[in-house]
Order: sequence, then C-alpha cells, then structure tokens
Amino acid sequence: MSTNPYNLDGFYFRSGPKIQIHNVKADDILELRHLVLRPNQPFESTHFEGDKDLDTVHYAAFDDDGNLVACATLLDRPFIIDQSTNISNEFKEAHPELLSTVGMKARQLRGMAVHPNNRGQGVGALLLNYIETHQSALPIVTRNLWCNARESATPFYINHGWIPVSDKFDIPDVGPHYQLFRQIRSY
Ligand SMILES: CC(C)(COP(=O)(O)OP(=O)(O)OC[C@H]1O[C@@H](n2cnc3c(N)ncnc32)[C@H](O)[C@@H]1OP(=O)(O)O)[C@@H](O)C(=O)NCCC(=O)NCCS
Repeated sequence: MSTNPYNLDGFYFRSGPKIQIHNVKADDILELRHLVLRPNQPFESTHFEGDKDLDTVHYAAFDDDGNLVACATLLDRPFIIDQSTNISNEFKEAHPELLSTVGMKARQLRGMAVHPNNRGQGVGALLLNYIETHQSALPIVTRNLWCNARESATPFYINHGWIPVSDKFDIPDVGPHYQLFRQIRSY
C-alpha cells in the first residue's frame, strides 16, 4: 500500500512540505521499509520483532497526494548496550549523567525511512520531530529514546540532538551502525 487510506484528521505541517502524519499498521509501511532499508533482501526481512506488540507504534508520513513518503516505528525496549556494541569512552566521559539510564525503560526507534524521491526536503526531520514530541499526553515526562543508526544516517540524528553511545559495530547484511540515545524532557 502506498496511498493514504486515512481521513483528513491527521497532523499537517503548515510550513515547509505539506505532510500529514498518522499512526498506521505495520503492514502499511512494509513496502517502503523494503524499498529503502532491505532492497536486496527477501520481503520477509521487513518484518521486525515486536511489530505487532500492543505498545508498538508505527508512523507514516503522506504527501499532499496521499503518497506514503516516510515511515518509522517505535518499540518499547529498554535502553541496553547490546552485546555486539561497546559503550564508547567518549559517551562515558561526555555524558556520565546518562549512564544511569542504561537498562531503564525506553523506546527504540526503528525502520526510519524516507522515500528516495523525497529525501533532503525536510521530511525526515519533520517525522523525527513529530515522533519525539507526540509520544505521551503526560505534561511532565522524561522520555528515553535509542536507535541503532546506519553510519550514513548518523549525522542526521546527531543534527537532531541524538548522542552516539557506542563505538561503530556491524549489523550483518545491513552494514556499519552506531547506537544513539536521545533524552527528551517536557515540562
Ligand atoms: C536518513 C533519512 C531518514 C533523512 O531523511 P531526509 O528527509 O532525507 O532528511 P531531511 O531532509 O529531513 O534532512 C534534515 C537535515 O539532516 C541532514 N541530513 C539528512 N540526511 C543526512 C545524512 N545522511 N547525513 C548527514 N546529514 C543528513 C540534512 O542535510 C538536513 O540538514 P539541515 O536541516 O541543516 O538542512 C533519509 O535520508 C533516509 O531514509 N535514508 C535512507 C535510509 C536510512 O538510512 N534510514 C535511517 C536508518 S537508521
């Protein structure tokens, strides 16, 4: 599915590209995941563990014509340092206050993908900002987010305030990654 099946009650950004963001089902974004993130792998590889969990949220961004232009997924996953990664000395030295968040409740960002025709137009930034600010109705809350970012996309996240946690590590069939962390406090 690549068109917007939802009504006009979604979220519009009124400056920059006109983009509408909705919570969707995993099935709605698998094609885009495949195209962008797993082009040389079987379609089944686009299914992520936890996709159907009740607390998993899938986001889709649609353009004015209802085309799916970007997607991402948030999973309830504690912020852990994976066995395949090492917490970097830079992180330990620069952010000792964040070490206590290791093992804590957090959400993992996965499958962030902007359609190749829509890159570099601010769509990824809009979607990321939306996800960071629309996770909870609570007025006072601290949210811990983390992700395993492709090396090529790591500067994009750093530009948006994410902090590299790990040394570079390899995910088989996908490539080099860094683990990144983002803490958001709203008051
Ligand atoms: C990485 C990705 C999500 C960024 O989305 P996008 O819509 O192209 O990015 P935007 O246009 O919103 O860019 C926002 C800012 O980040 C910068 N940026 C975007 N991608 C970047 C990259 N790969 N490296 C460095 N900077 C990047 C832009 O220059 C822009 O900076 P500015 O605000 O100073 O002008 C998108 O390019 C993508 O889907 N890439 C392929 C899949 C991928 O790597 N996904 C991430 C998996 S971890």
